[in-house]
Amino acid sequence: MLRVLVKRSGFVPTVASGVTEARQRIDAEDPFDVVITDLMMPDGSGIDVLEAARERDESTQVILITAHATTERAVEAMRKGAYDYLEKPFDNRALMATVDKALEKRTVLGENRHLRAAVEGREDGGLIGVSRATRDLRELLRRAARAPSSVLITGESGTGKELAARAVHDLGDRCAAPFVVVNCGALPENLMESELFGHTKGSFTGAASAKEGLVRAASGGTLFLDEIGELPLALQVKLLRVLQERKVRPIGGAEELPVDIRVVAATNRDLEAEVRAGRFREDLFYRLNVIRVQLAPLRDRPDDIRPLAQHLLGKHCALQGRRMVFDDEALAWLCRQPLPGNVRELENRVERAVALSAGPNITLDDLTLGSATSSTDDAMAPEIGPNFDLDAHLGAVEYAVLRRALASTGGVRKHAADLLGMTFRQFRYRLAKYEDDPD
Ligand SMILES: Nc1ncnc2c1ncn2[C@@H]1O[C@H](COP(=O)(O)OP(=O)(O)OP(=O)(O)O)[C@@H](O)[C@H]1O
Ligand SMILES: [Mg+2]
Repeated sequence: MLRVLVKRSGFVPTVASGVTEARQRIDAEDPFDVVITDLMMPDGSGIDVLEAARERDESTQVILITAHATTERAVEAMRKGAYDYLEKPFDNRALMATVDKALEKRTVLGENRHLRAAVEGREDGGLIGVSRATRDLRELLRRAARAPSSVLITGESGTGKELAARAVHDLGDRCAAPFVVVNCGALPENLMESELFGHTKGSFTGAASAKEGLVRAASGGTLFLDEIGELPLALQVKLLRVLQERKVRPIGGAEELPVDIRVVAATNRDLEAEVRAGRFREDLFYRLNVIRVQLAPLRDRPDDIRPLAQHLLGKHCALQGRRMVFDDEALAWLCRQPLPGNVRELENRVERAVALSAGPNITLDDLTLGSATSSTDDAMAPEIGPNFDLDAHLGAVEYAVLRRALASTGGVRKHAADLLGMTFRQFRYRLAKYEDDPD
């Protein structure tokens, strides 16, 4: 987000993923005009970045981003020569105004006129991970970003499809234009059509005013079609036309309007199988599947768990205004978990531990507190005797599995259903046997 903001203001940003990389870049490159750094990062403190930058060139101006709880330390940083600090959440304009003032001071002191900024916590595209798969992914996304072609992102629930889609947008030359997200499964067919393509005033009952539609809203930028596998067939035809003709006709409209969009689609379904089953149009599939980005599940890249856990800890500490580290034992345990809900599950577990922990360390107890593990074990290994009730037991097993899937997805039933290979309706039906849930 900061990279895009800084770039949009006409500066040339350099992004570092943490203290270590920031220091390397500060040492290796021409002195930076301005450095923007978070105070609290997984691998150290923004004060180390401040010191490295000022040591390299005294006129480099450093702006710190702090969570409310760490403001005291920001004041300390000011004493060590930081230009200013901003508390989270900050307003983009306030940040850029501070950058401008810092730059004025810097131009008085030094000569370098073009700004470089080292920004917190983001590798290219914000994708954390050290595995071969993730390094290849970053490279693929960088290249895909430069091409105009459609991108199809596939992968299990929680593997980072939306994040990857944003990276394609952010790393490309459309980054300053809108990134418009369409959730293709969220709306009924009739509403979806006008949502996507827009409508003219009075074109149907209830169309009191004209609507632009999401396709045109994305003009100049990127249209992200999330859960594309859920798009009804009738709308697949209409979408295909838009992609082929690069024109859209709003409902009730007399003429087709030109649109300039880059399309990124994502799904956790096997679209090839959907095509074979006749549920997804083959021609649309080929239109979308020009650059294919397949995201690996976390179990196939276990090396990523540790850096992701550290990153997510930093993220949720900052959001919750806390400062914490993992116990060695806790982190080791987390890295051994199967995590069928992938990064989303990891994030839920870390967020929950940060919220529940008494601190200052995240312990194994914080990670397992109140989790479904023991009741699941009971259900899987029952006491067998003459009064054993098999149906009740099978019910308990079913319920435990449903609960575990829900725990993996932070309670999102749509995702839990995906995890178990069920439709949302099947999942809801099964869950309703054990919980009376009005929804
Ligand atoms: N490599 C990564 N680095 C940092 N954060 C990640 C990474 N991958 C995923 N995340 C985070 O995990 C969460 C889930 O990712 P995202 O929403 O992109 O998954 P998804 O594949 O779209 O899932 P679903 O199919 O369930 O919609 C997000 O908060 C995202 O920021
Ligand atoms: Mg998603």
